Parts: sequence; structure tokens; C-alpha cells
Amino acid sequence: MTSPLELQDLALEIAKEAGELAQRRRREGVSIAASKSTIADIVTEADREVEALIRGRLAEARPDDGFLGEESGDADGTSGITWVVDPIDGTVNYAFGMPSYAVSIAAVEGSRDPGEWRALAGVVHAPALGDTFHAASGEGAWLAGERLRVTEEAPAGALVATGLGYDKATHAGDLDTLARVMPLARDIRRIGAASLDLSFVAAGRLDGYFERGLKPWDVAAGRLLVDEAGGRTGWFAPDEYGRSLTIVAGSALFEELRARILG
Ligand code: IPD
Repeated sequence: MTSPLELQDLALEIAKEAGELAQRRRREGVSIAASKSTIADIVTEADREVEALIRGRLAEARPDDGFLGEESGDADGTSGITWVVDPIDGTVNYAFGMPSYAVSIAAVEGSRDPGEWRALAGVVHAPALGDTFHAASGEGAWLAGERLRVTEEAPAGALVATGLGYDKATHAGDLDTLARVMPLARDIRRIGAASLDLSFVAAGRLDGYFERGLKPWDVAAGRLLVDEAGGRTGWFAPDEYGRSLTIVAGSALFEELRARILG
């Protein structure tokens, strides 16, 4: 039986190697390989190469585990553990030369559904920011040797992040939701990498975050960070476009966000 800490340490080692490759490719110049759900939803050659590196390293170290990755699909394992990987979260930032992108690697147990799995370990490594967030179940969330805590009070209003998906049909509804949240907010951020939004809530750099339409690899590592930092995390039923809703925050703000977004 492998401990969550051992899984976390493996994820840390691989995420750092993956981050170096992503940065090297960024310096060499990024090429867009394809569009995915819409023309704005892109994948670069580097996303694919970095995922191949992570997948290969995990297969060497833990051949019995399953894999669920953004770019190369999934594979069943026999151990009950699945690695959920976004090789470069924040691909649009990466392509535009902005530093807010991250390698996100998590180990989960049981279901592959973010509403049902049990997260064991998670790493969000942002090489261009110099930040490596990590957590193991029951062992806390950490950044550079400091234990992380979510904020519990926001007297001047909450600093809240969100994201708008790539599908234009959903933008008007998401802007309506944002208008309902604004009375709670000191200000709004749109960072462009869900794994970093989640990590920043864990670290108290943001008070809360919500977004519809996130995928398992966007949230797997970051939600464990928030849980381990004492926050609340919610994964709510899909809307008419099939998009699940993610909300994370300290407990009071979590309830306020839920009430304003879901009514
Ligand atoms: C995207 C980012 C973005 C979020 C999108 C995600 P990707 O992931 O996390 O912030 O708004 O929903 O798809 O495509 O850059 O890996």
C-alpha cells in the first residue's frame, strides 16, 4: 500500500521535470497544434509532449495505476489509483507568453468522477511563477515549506476569481452569474488556469473561485489543495450546457457564493 505522501513525492518529481520541458519549449517558441472544443480552445505541441513525458514516467514508476490526461485520453489500471493530469493548464496564457500556466498532477482513488473520487495527492507546479503547491490527503497543503490556509474573512469584500469557457453560447449566462456575485466581491480576477485559481484559494491569495465547465484534470490537484487548506469545495450538477459548477472558498464565502450562483 503506497502512502499519499509517497504519491505526492512522485508527482512532485515528475511535475518539476515536466515544468522544465514546458519552459524550454516556451523559450524555443510555441506552435498551436490544434483547436479542440472551439477555435479558442487550443492545444500546443508542448501540451502533448509534456503529457507524454508525464505519462511515460508514471507508467515506469507505477505500471498498475490508471491514467486520465487532458491530451492523450485515459487507460484503466488495476491498483484502484488513477493519475489525473493536465500537462499545461492555462494553455492560452502559455501560448501568449503569460506566466500563469501550470503542470497539474493528482492521484485519485475510486471513481474518475470529480464528484465521487477520493483525492490522495496533488501537485500544481507553475514553473514561470516559481510556485510549487502540493498536498497529500491528511497531510496538509504546502508551498515552499509553509502550510497553507484558506482565508476565512474578507472584511473589504472577497477577492474572487472565475473563468469564462471557450463556448460563446455560454458567455451571457456566465456574465449574469458574475453580476449576481459582484455584491460579495472586492474585485474579480480571471487568471486563466483553473489549477492556479484553486491553488491561490488554498494559499489565501484569493478568497474564492467559481467556474462552470471544468474538466477532471483542471480540478484534481487543486481541489485537494483547498480541502487540505481547510476550505470547502463543491462540484455541482451540470447546467443546460452540460457544465458542472465548481465553487471553492472558506466556509462562509462558500455558502454565500452557492446561494448567489444557484439561488
Ligand atoms: C483551461 C484553464 C482555464 C479554464 C478552462 C480550462 P487548459 O484549461 O484552466 O482557466 O477557464 O475552462 O479548460 O485548456 O488551459 O488546460
